[in-house]
Amino acid sequence: MNRSQQRSVGSWIPLGMEIGDSRRKSNHVTKVLTIFCVITILFIIVLTNSFQSKQINMFSHTEPGVTHVLVTGGAGFIGSHAALRLLKDSYRVTIVDNLSRGNLGAVKILQDQFPKPGRLQFIVADLGHPEEVDRIFSENAFDAVMHFAAVAYVGESTLEPLRYYHNITSNTLGLLEAMHRHNVKTLIYSSTCATYGEPEIMPITEETPQKPINPYGKAKKMAEDIILDFSKKTDIAVMIMRYFNVIGSDPDGRLGEHPRPELREHGRISGACFDAALGKIPGLKVKGTDYKTPDGTCIRDYIDVTDLVNAHVKALDKARPNKVGIYNVGTGKGRSVKEFVEACKKATGKKIRVEYLSRRPGDYALVFSDPTKIQKDLNWTAKYTSLEQSLRTAWRWQKSHQSGYD
Ligand SMILES: NC(=O)c1ccc[n+]([C@@H]2O[C@H](COP(=O)([O-])OP(=O)(O)OC[C@H]3O[C@@H](n4cnc5c(N)ncnc54)[C@H](O)[C@@H]3O)[C@@H](O)[C@H]2O)c1
Ligand SMILES: *[C@@H]1O[C@H](CO)[C@@H](O)[C@H](O)[C@H]1NC(C)=O
Ligand SMILES: *[C@@H]1O[C@H](CO)[C@@H](O)[C@H](O)[C@H]1NC(C)=O
Ligand SMILES: *[C@@H]1O[C@H](CO)[C@@H](O)[C@H](O)[C@H]1NC(C)=O
Repeated sequence: MNRSQQRSVGSWIPLGMEIGDSRRKSNHVTKVLTIFCVITILFIIVLTNSFQSKQINMFSHTEPGVTHVLVTGGAGFIGSHAALRLLKDSYRVTIVDNLSRGNLGAVKILQDQFPKPGRLQFIVADLGHPEEVDRIFSENAFDAVMHFAAVAYVGESTLEPLRYYHNITSNTLGLLEAMHRHNVKTLIYSSTCATYGEPEIMPITEETPQKPINPYGKAKKMAEDIILDFSKKTDIAVMIMRYFNVIGSDPDGRLGEHPRPELREHGRISGACFDAALGKIPGLKVKGTDYKTPDGTCIRDYIDVTDLVNAHVKALDKARPNKVGIYNVGTGKGRSVKEFVEACKKATGKKIRVEYLSRRPGDYALVFSDPTKIQKDLNWTAKYTSLEQSLRTAWRWQKSHQSGYD
């Protein structure tokens, strides 16, 4: 054997060894890699979990400087606009809604706009289930509650009164009990001018006697009474907001009003007007032209939803323990149905067929607010007072969302 052979042999052996060794090594490397991968995956899982639990923790712990607001009914028309406004103002928001009447699409838009952890969470739950409500309160650290969730159609309330007493009065009682048990001490309550009934004297002040004339108004009045009696025995901070007729939508066009099609017949005049403009219904039916008003049609106070949610944020800001505030939220100006229809025609640019019919039972001629108190106490005034402008904003959304949020 010469050197080279030796070398080659010599080099062969270690080479062979090297091959065997590298096989073993590559097995080893594979093992190490596998272990590494497994560890990495486990690590990622642990991280994600801790991130998720951190996210949950952000809602379950109070944080200095952050006000966490529970918005019930936040998938609905007014609740979604309120949630948007709160999120823009850096509040932490939890929406609870069972989607019986609201729109998941509205919540998705809010989630897209505010995706950062700890900003917005959505919980699907029915306020009529006390165990669910209690669980939500034990898992979350709320600083305040804005309670919008309700059924809200006067006509429907006369047909299904129990649905109204259940979903307004009884659910508000359940919510208050949960707040009491879990020491949540600020409540902003959605009430309505329907709690006044048909007062003789206009405008309506907060001192106007409440004599509701339909189950909707009565259920809301009962809920108010429960809240007020409870407030006398605790240090809870309460703001009761009695809205007049709410119109309009988000000026930036993200949110709008989209009630269930099956509720259309009970619906509000703005919805009916847009449906007529879109040809979904043949025209508008104006019921009653012989009221004691200048043009014979009913007069209402139309408040823009942007102004309304501003009033809520101001109310939340001014809410103090042991204090109760009751406020009308309206413009202070009455507009007749005829004026409304004209504004709607201009805003949509459509010819709308209007049929004038006889009165609908239970409608009152004249309703408008005196907004002096809210102006003085909360420094709030309605800024969107042009019917046509509010309707134009709402129409823009309606026109581009003809099947709602889908
Ligand atoms: N729209 C108006 O002109 C007007 C006027 C005065 C007062 N309000 C009050 O404002 C509030 C909001 O009204 P809106 O026009 O946004 O109505 P909406 O129907 O659009 O919203 C109500 C929301 O509450 C939810 N909800 C109802 N029952 C629930 C339950 N048991 N559990 C969980 N979620 C439930 C619905 O799914 C819906 O998303 C109501 O309390 C209403 O009485 C409205
Ligand atoms: C919401 O609540 C209503 C009434 O309690 C119920 O009929 C409906 O199934 C609920 N919807 C969801 C999505 O839970
Ligand atoms: C309200 O309460 C009634 C019970 O009277 C229930 O059947 C109904 O589904 C509830 N929810 C809504 C959104 O109407
Ligand atoms: C009231 O609100 C206006 C803005 O709408 C603001 O300019 C003014 O400073 C406020 N006044 C008080 C006393 O807070």
